[in-house]
Amino acid sequence: MRKHIVAGNWKMNKTFEEAEELIDNLMTTLENTELAPDTLMVVCPPFPYLEMCSEYSEDSYFLPGAQNVSDQESGAYTGEVSAAMLQSLEIAYCIVGHSERRAYYGETDATVAAKVDRLLAHDIHPIVCCGEVLQEREDGRQLEVVERQIREGLFHLSAEQITEVVVAYEPVWAIGTGKTATPAQAQEIHAYIRSLLAKQYGAEMADKISILYGGSCKPSNAREIFAQPDVDGGLIGGAALNAEDFMAIAKAF
Ligand code: 13P
Repeated sequence: MRKHIVAGNWKMNKTFEEAEELIDNLMTTLENTELAPDTLMVVCPPFPYLEMCSEYSEDSYFLPGAQNVSDQESGAYTGEVSAAMLQSLEIAYCIVGHSERRAYYGETDATVAAKVDRLLAHDIHPIVCCGEVLQEREDGRQLEVVERQIREGLFHLSAEQITEVVVAYEPVWAIGTGKTATPAQAQEIHAYIRSLLAKQYGAEMADKISILYGGSCKPSNAREIFAQPDVDGGLIGGAALNAEDFMAIAKAF
């Protein structure tokens, strides 16, 4: 009943030519691959390549996504990109509250909540990231941290709105480190997130929300992680920069 989503977060990588080549490779690989029918692929390149990505996606089986959005609607906000702009490029998804934005750009749970509102007002699905840093896990505080991020970032939404949201659990200690959460660790937090959503919105609503895992997910470990009952896909960093690897992950369902 839930969508399986494999989303590639390119982060700040690739020149325009390299980006075009990757999308081209992805389309070729996709043409020759059979994915499970309920698997949705999302490609999130840097802002300057979104239009290109959106155009290519019309002829292929992936949807374009952004990596960030402004928390303001429009106006004098130099350097920002609004949800209305993304909507005008037919962008379907947008990552919000990635740990890198929280750590390097001061993004708070309140900013996340505001960005989610902007996106929903423009019919874009937010992919809302949560996850603890290493120290928090070592202190045994991972549930408390994730609970706060989910509550503060999402619980102002109505039941109708929450089903438009995708959640991504990305333990910060697993991002770009090669250290993946074990399938059991991922399942524990994913089930916990779903229980929080169920408490707030009811089990039926919670069952509709896709929860993705992110953090050193690659072809060699995706199958085991995606086999967990509450893991509905992945938010992929490094491995999304290579078409074959990204596709191998998408085929892990
Ligand atoms: P890696 O897959 O490179 O660990 O990155 C995960 C991530 O941050 C995706 O948003």
